[in-house]
Amino acid sequence: MNNISKIEKAIDYVNKNKGNVNKIYKPKYHITAPVGWINDPNGFTFYKGEYHLFYQYHPYSSEWGPMHWAHIKSKDAINWEWLPIALAPEDEYDINGCFSGSAIEKDDKLYLMYTGNLDGKGKYEDARQIQCIAESIDGITFKKHVNNPVIGTKDLPKESIMQDFRDPKVFEKDGVYYSVIASRNTDGAGQILLYKSDDLYNWSYVGVVSKSEHKLGGMWECPDLFELGGKDVLIMSPMQVEDCGNDFWNINSSTYMIGELNYNTGEFNYKYLGEIDKGLDFYAPQTMIDDNGRRVMIAWMQTWGRNIPSNTENHGWAGMMTIPRVLEIIDNKLYQKPIETIKNYRKNEISLNNVSVKDREKLDGVNGNTIELLLEVDMTNSTMFGINLLKSEDEEVSVHYNKELEELTFDRGLSKNIIKGEEKIYRSYRKTKVELINNKIKLNIFIDVSSVEIFINDGLKTMSSTVYMKDFGQDVEFVSNGESILCNISKWDIII
Ligand code: FRU
Repeated sequence: MNNISKIEKAIDYVNKNKGNVNKIYKPKYHITAPVGWINDPNGFTFYKGEYHLFYQYHPYSSEWGPMHWAHIKSKDAINWEWLPIALAPEDEYDINGCFSGSAIEKDDKLYLMYTGNLDGKGKYEDARQIQCIAESIDGITFKKHVNNPVIGTKDLPKESIMQDFRDPKVFEKDGVYYSVIASRNTDGAGQILLYKSDDLYNWSYVGVVSKSEHKLGGMWECPDLFELGGKDVLIMSPMQVEDCGNDFWNINSSTYMIGELNYNTGEFNYKYLGEIDKGLDFYAPQTMIDDNGRRVMIAWMQTWGRNIPSNTENHGWAGMMTIPRVLEIIDNKLYQKPIETIKNYRKNEISLNNVSVKDREKLDGVNGNTIELLLEVDMTNSTMFGINLLKSEDEEVSVHYNKELEELTFDRGLSKNIIKGEEKIYRSYRKTKVELINNKIKLNIFIDVSSVEIFINDGLKTMSSTVYMKDFGQDVEFVSNGESILCNISKWDIII
């Protein structure tokens, strides 16, 4: 009863308040909440022919608060339908928040595995995080399991603290269910634990998958483990990783490791480690496998610890997701490509070939703030090529490639809305190493009112960031030192 009432209260609040949101910065084809705050994607799964996505949700304000699970579904992972809120924090084992988790189908039912957060009524010694199950026969209404938690503090191995134990990602292998869960060692650093189960209700501890030991940040959050291209891949979001060259410039980061998991001991040996995205806003990615066997990833396009203009300017909402991306491993690198179904929403195409750019150029019809750009640039005769996006007289977002340094830089420093945070050094930009291929660079850029996502050289690297322009400029300007040739450039409006 209690359960229904809190969910109903939240649903009612959303219905009454979604019309009061200021939409000037709201993306048109990225996931946002109708009203309120969102963070991590949760429960990303394919169930009965549709993509389902849940996310961390606080409907009552544009700031983080007691976490609910919002729920949406889609046939193509682009056009989403809002469904009733799936989980609300109201049972004794999750009263301070239904924290992040995942979903899996079993015997036609959809199961959610999530973290019950208990803050110990403000006493740290009493705070704890425990793992819970909720299930649904129709994929819409979820019933929490009578024996929650299914993994409690007694199931923690030695040297793991109960205050940080969260974000279970459940998966199945050879008829056995496994769950990777973020944890904190008594040394203060992050680690990932593996549990297994035959029925999703009774779990036993397998072992430590991987540990930071203070070499890769503090707490680790939101793990995911899956097979791709014959390898095992562990992704997770380590907090407070120190900068290293161009990497890990955000306060918290997201990484992938490619290696091999020993299912008997839980041990994960990896050979390759990388930061997943090189932009300013990307966190807590989660993956799923769809009906075409594609490994699709989505992330929260935001970073903890920085101001969000739609919140500080009281617009009534905050937070968005990335475009769902299909993953692939090529030469031990993780490639990300926008899910192909987004092409079905391309409208008003403008395509040009062999356009010479010297100094500064604008191209007829190539502009907008809800667009996709796809271009290949020959830099044989230039040292710098750049694109200024969302440009007005006084503002722009710049993307430029320096041939000598072999670096692509994304910079939002010329937006009048400064986004700053708890980081030691304020930086409005990030850069990443990119090698030209036959003197050419390929860029696929998605702009959606307050975000820019860049896929570089067929998804070898990505840069995802939010931008909140005060002037709402829509111009696109190309710049070059020497002559750059746009071998081909296409622009589409993306309209859902
Ligand atoms: C990551 C995270 C998770 C937690 C959730 C709470 O962004 O901190 O570890 O479950 O957010 O909203």
